[in-house]
Amino acid sequence: VKRPDSSSKARRTRTYAAPRGTLDILPEDEPYWRFVQAAAEETCRLFGYRRMETPMFEDVGLFSRTVGEATDIVEKEMYVFSDRGGQELALRPEWTANICRAYLQHGMHNRPQPVRVWYWGPTFRYQRPQAGRYRQFTQFGCEAIGEGDPSIDAECVEMAWDFYGRLGLRDLRIELSSIGDPTCRPAYQEALRSYYADKLDRLCADCQRRYDTNIMRLLDCKTDMDGPVTSRAPSILDHLCADCRDHFDALRSYLDEMGIPYTLNPRLARGLDYYTRTVFEITPPGEGSQSSLCGGGRYDGLIELLGSRPTPAIGFAAGLERTIATLRKQSTPVPPFPEPTAYVACQSSAAAAAALRLTSDLRKKGVSALAGVGGRSLKAQMRHANALGIRRVLILGEDELAKGTVTVRDMTTGEQKTVPRSKVAPLLTHRRP
Ligand code: HAM
Repeated sequence: VKRPDSSSKARRTRTYAAPRGTLDILPEDEPYWRFVQAAAEETCRLFGYRRMETPMFEDVGLFSRTVGEATDIVEKEMYVFSDRGGQELALRPEWTANICRAYLQHGMHNRPQPVRVWYWGPTFRYQRPQAGRYRQFTQFGCEAIGEGDPSIDAECVEMAWDFYGRLGLRDLRIELSSIGDPTCRPAYQEALRSYYADKLDRLCADCQRRYDTNIMRLLDCKTDMDGPVTSRAPSILDHLCADCRDHFDALRSYLDEMGIPYTLNPRLARGLDYYTRTVFEITPPGEGSQSSLCGGGRYDGLIELLGSRPTPAIGFAAGLERTIATLRKQSTPVPPFPEPTAYVACQSSAAAAAALRLTSDLRKKGVSALAGVGGRSLKAQMRHANALGIRRVLILGEDELAKGTVTVRDMTTGEQKTVPRSKVAPLLTHRRP
């Protein structure tokens, strides 16, 4: 282990960067985040989902029990730590388990079912960083808990599709499958085991290990992705029991009726163990499931795993860094952040107090304004306003100070006009471009 150099010179010269796999959101990125959050809120409003939040960390057992001991997330991706009281906690690697924990803890099964909730916030996985894969990322997700009818599955897929449609992204694909339930899945897993038995040497080391612990993950093998072994593996869709088949057929007929396009992908292997029946992902054009924008599915057994009576549920979560990267890649227009309407410039430091007062009065009247500060020359203040993209400069020179007026300069046309100070706000609000 390399020890950090603690000499005083090293301490003085050390520079810091954000931890590997994390992302700073800069002011110029913010319009994208606002745009995406507005779209998420509108989708949730239209579908009647209410926002919910849970703590950023939870008992580590909550995740290992539900997400699954033999998953990448639990095996090697959780940020686990002991607090000073000795409790073992994990930064949330996903939200579904926490939402279900909260559903039980707050007796939400006594409310009208299904309980429809959404969430938005930081999520943590210790993964090898690469394009679109971070150690802290943001998920927007929705969960409908307490209803097993396939119409809720259709609602869930429709909702994710509505969100992406609202963003204006093009050429996305919904990949859909059913992974059966405890009635039919064991026989399918057996079929997979016999299929893979003599082909393990063609898979990655992780998959060779998972042959015994999590056979369905082999369908997602990184070495053989879309390769000859995986593509000829038995299909779960040929192994569904009658109930799972009916459920899946109903979902497909509802999606067809609503005109929501999807591609069947019987090899869709979600990275979490709690799924039953419906699973889906939304992927951007030209990329595989490793870069899904959004993923979800039904998890009818999860709440039972948490010690309560069986409660069917379904949901999805979208990764927002990837979503925003796709918006940028597709040059999707997003509303820009509106620059302040006015820049109050003063000719001498004698006018500084009057400039602050005028700026403050404008803000009280709902006009966004900045004051030129720091004793810059009038010319420098004009340049500053220009650099900030502010269209109107309000000049307080000696003459204006003496007469209680302001000179309003339009930086794009060069037009100037002097008006009484009380007339500035109405002038700006009426003529805002
Ligand atoms: P997930 O597929 O693990 O599902 O994650 C959902 C989305 O989060 C992914 O499609 C991806 O966009 C994003 N994501 C995941 N890991 C990363 C990462 N390291 N960096 C950037 N983005 C990432 C779940 O988390 C389930 N809880 C979804 C769900 C909700 N199922 C039912 N309800």
